[in-house]
Amino acid sequence: MKKINVGLIGFGTIGAGVARVLLENRQVISDRLGAELKLAGIADLDITSDRGVKLPEDMLLTNDVNALLGNPEIDIIIELIGGYEPARSFVSRALQSRQSVVTANKALLAKHGNELFALARENRVDLYYEASVGGGIPIIKVLREALAGNQINSVCGILNGTCNYILSRMGDEGADFTEVLKKAQELGYAEADPTFDVEGIDTAHKLAILTSLAFATPIAFDKIHVEGISGIKPADFAFAREFGYKIKLLAIAKKRGDCIETRVHPTMIPENHMLAKIDGVFNAVFVNADALGPSLYYGQGAGMMATASAVVADLVDIARNLIDKSMQRIPDLGFQRAAVIDRPYRPMSEIISQYYLRFSAHDKTSVLSRIAGILGENGISIASVIQQGRSHNGDTVAIVMQTHKAKEQDLRNALTEIDQLPVIAAATAVIRMESDL
Ligand code: HSE
Repeated sequence: MKKINVGLIGFGTIGAGVARVLLENRQVISDRLGAELKLAGIADLDITSDRGVKLPEDMLLTNDVNALLGNPEIDIIIELIGGYEPARSFVSRALQSRQSVVTANKALLAKHGNELFALARENRVDLYYEASVGGGIPIIKVLREALAGNQINSVCGILNGTCNYILSRMGDEGADFTEVLKKAQELGYAEADPTFDVEGIDTAHKLAILTSLAFATPIAFDKIHVEGISGIKPADFAFAREFGYKIKLLAIAKKRGDCIETRVHPTMIPENHMLAKIDGVFNAVFVNADALGPSLYYGQGAGMMATASAVVADLVDIARNLIDKSMQRIPDLGFQRAAVIDRPYRPMSEIISQYYLRFSAHDKTSVLSRIAGILGENGISIASVIQQGRSHNGDTVAIVMQTHKAKEQDLRNALTEIDQLPVIAAATAVIRMESDL
């Protein structure tokens, strides 16, 4: 039986999962592939810790990455070290040596994906990346292959399990952000340094990739407006419930005409929308396509075996291309190169949304009319208002409004004015509301 040799760089949790899947599911993989997918070598700085996987005796375990990179015996390199460097150098070297690469590294692709895809094309090898978005959910394959007959109108997703876990618990328990984050860290759901997750950067890395796949445009992480979840208060969940909404950190990519809109921010979505029902560490992507209509892809967005499942699926796809000598059969972003063009991005100031506004006001007469007046002067129409009873811990009260659709810049102008009023005690909290995803 033909053998395809695989070299793994990075023997952490996901790497150990990949080794387990390759070894434990060897038979089903070769039944599907018609060839053996052989784990020929692993490189990691630490080659002594026990990862709970019984590695074959003839397999090379080394802390010298050069034993794998450029080795003509190794057909496919798996990069699982994460981060920008040395991942970028390793992947570049592999591609230049005509080794195909599988990576789970969204940060790397969000920043250097265009250059790495070009290298893969020049060297007629494949660079696959299913595990980079949504962990085990095969969303890359969906956008690149399964929806090839569709124009995509929008892609919206819950792409970060840490944030979804925190928001779900805050919503269920009325708990504070810091308290839930601490619990998530204790349970191993959140990193010791959670900045990339809770500030929306990890979600934006993933959205940059999905946007390019959906709309045939080079990866452009810098075009994404990013806001995280650390400013959301328990009171916002209570008010959201009164309006019939849930709060999620959403990645949103829409195309209107030729113009793309990409943003990551806490979002109120109607509680009967499918995305509102995604709780805990799970991920989901909601795609609106012209022929298929709406569809939802749901599953484990992270974790050892789920992510390994996606990595191994990529290995099988590449191995099939190697056997058929059809590298680059599926274009990196699912579109022929000439069709992948720079497109205009709508500036955030131009987006149209409904808004949830929570004003902290001193409990004085005519506050409500002054706020409403300024909103009206800026063309913002109020859909509903909730005024909380008197505060027991001072003289501030929460006044909460839901607006009709308005332009972001008009809202910003109004809030700049409102937040300067002497009757306003703190900056107004704003959460965008999306009803037509
Ligand atoms: N840290 C991510 C999450 C998983 O919490 O979903 C890797 O992207």
